[in-house]
Amino acid sequence: MNLLDTAIEAARAAGQEIIRRWPQERDVRSKGFRDIVTDADLAAQEALIAIIRARFPQHGILSEEGLAPTNNADTVWVLDPLDGTTNYARRLPSFSVSVAVARRDALIVGVVYDPLRDYIFCAERGAGATWNGQRLHVSQVDDLGQAVAGVDFAREPAIRSSQMATMVVCSERIRTFRSFGSAALGLCFVAAGWLDAYFHLSLAPWDVAAGALMVTEAGGAITSTDGKPWSYTQPRCLATNGKLHSEFLELMRG
Ligand code: 2AM
Ligand code: CA
Repeated sequence: MNLLDTAIEAARAAGQEIIRRWPQERDVRSKGFRDIVTDADLAAQEALIAIIRARFPQHGILSEEGLAPTNNADTVWVLDPLDGTTNYARRLPSFSVSVAVARRDALIVGVVYDPLRDYIFCAERGAGATWNGQRLHVSQVDDLGQAVAGVDFAREPAIRSSQMATMVVCSERIRTFRSFGSAALGLCFVAAGWLDAYFHLSLAPWDVAAGALMVTEAGGAITSTDGKPWSYTQPRCLATNGKLHSEFLELMRG
C-alpha cells in the first residue's frame, strides 16, 4: 500500500464518520477562545489514525485533536480530521478532511476530502494534483482587477484586525473575496483555478499542509505573507496562481 492510497482511504473513512453524524444533534464542546470540537471531529480522527497506524506503525502522527508525534520518525502524517468545525457545528455545508504526509519537513502527499460533495483533491510531490481524478491547474488570471481571493478569519483579535486592514487594501484593487470556512478547501480552490489567491494569517500545520502541496503541484505559488519562504509550520501564508503573487505581496505589505 503506498502513501497516497492510504491517505485517500483514511480521508474517505473520516468523511464517512462526519457524514454519518451530519443529520444528528451536534455534541459541541469549547476547547479554547473561539475554538470548538464536536463528536464528529473525534470520530473522524479515530478513523484516520486506525488506518494510518495499521499500515505505517513506524510513522509519526500530528493531529489537531491532541496527537503530537511520539517518536522521531522522519515521516509524519499531519491530520485535520475536520477542517471547518464551526461550519459543521452550524450546519453550514463547507468543511473537509485534510491529510498530509511530510518527510524531513518536505510535504510529499496531500489529500483533502469534501464529504458532502464527494470531492477528493490529491497531490503527490512531483506528480501533480487532481480533483476527482482530473488534473488540476491554477488559473491564468493575470489582471489583479479580475482576481477572486479566498480568506478565512483568525480567531485572535489582533491578528483578525490586521487581516481586516489587509483586506481593506485588497478590496480596492481585486474583484472580490470569498470565505469558505475551511482553509484546506480554500487552498484546493486555488489549485483548481476556482480562486486566484488565498491568504490566512493564523493557520496550524494541519489546516494548511495538504492544501499547500495541492497549490504548488497545480503550478501555483505559496510564500509567507511577507514574501519569505513558507513552511507548513508557519501560521501566515499567501497562495496564488503565481502570476498574481508579487502584486498580492505588495498589497499584503500595504
Ligand atoms: P479549524 O476549522 O480546523 O479550526 C477558518 O478560519 C479556517 O482557519 C479553518 O480552516 C480553521 O481551522 C482555521 N483557523 C482559524 N483560526 C485559526 C487559528 N487560530 N489556528 C489554527 N487554525 C485556525
Ligand atoms: Ca479541525
